[in-house]
Amino acid sequence: MLEVTARDFKLRHFRQGDADAIVKYANNRKIYRPTMEMPYPFKRRDAVEWIEQNRAEKARKHPGMLSLAIVVDGEAAGCIGLSDIEGHKAAVGYWLAEELWGRGIMTRALKLTTRYALNDMGLRRLCAHVFLFNRASMRVLEKGSFKREGILRKETEKDGRLYDMVLYAKVR
Ligand SMILES: CC(C)(COP(=O)(O)OP(=O)(O)OC[C@H]1O[C@@H](n2cnc3c(N)ncnc32)[C@H](O)[C@@H]1OP(=O)(O)O)[C@@H](O)C(=O)NCCC(=O)NCCS
Repeated sequence: MLEVTARDFKLRHFRQGDADAIVKYANNRKIYRPTMEMPYPFKRRDAVEWIEQNRAEKARKHPGMLSLAIVVDGEAAGCIGLSDIEGHKAAVGYWLAEELWGRGIMTRALKLTTRYALNDMGLRRLCAHVFLFNRASMRVLEKGSFKREGILRKETEKDGRLYDMVLYAKVR
């Protein structure tokens, strides 16, 4: 189980008490636009279901996903996690409350999560799919030693449009 306290944030598993904070921060078009799984508007029901789904996965013998709250000043202000955990591989995804952008939080959260995934969980490949326009996320991945592997043309359909995605990965 990855639960760590860094200088200005903490990573821990989600609790039902996080629902209000998640809604407050995730209900933001600037977070919806570059992500693939998050609804907009992001309603309280979405947060409650998301937390429940995470708790159920955590209880499984071989979880298919692992999501951690990024807690700042006692509030769940973001999320980082692994999805599609299968065999030696998983995908990484994350978002952070807009008011906290640019402080280096996600770069450090990604490094902690990848270290745990590769060293403690024994995974050998972590990948990330990033919209071509998402410069900040690409920078975070590059600072986390992920390598750009290529462009997946018209990979993702969102709001009736097809988008090219950049594929990043880190292997051990
Ligand atoms: C992407 C995101 C998680 C970054 O979190 P963060 O804590 O602000 O990231 P960091 O502060 O660790 O690093 C951001 C880096 O991107 C750079 N950056 C930010 N905006 C940028 C832009 N428009 N163009 C280029 N670089 C940019 C910053 O300068 C910084 O790099 P530096 O340290 O070399 O200066 C955050 O912006 C977010 O939640 N975005 C919406 C959701 C999302 O995009 N999720 C990822 C989906 S793949």
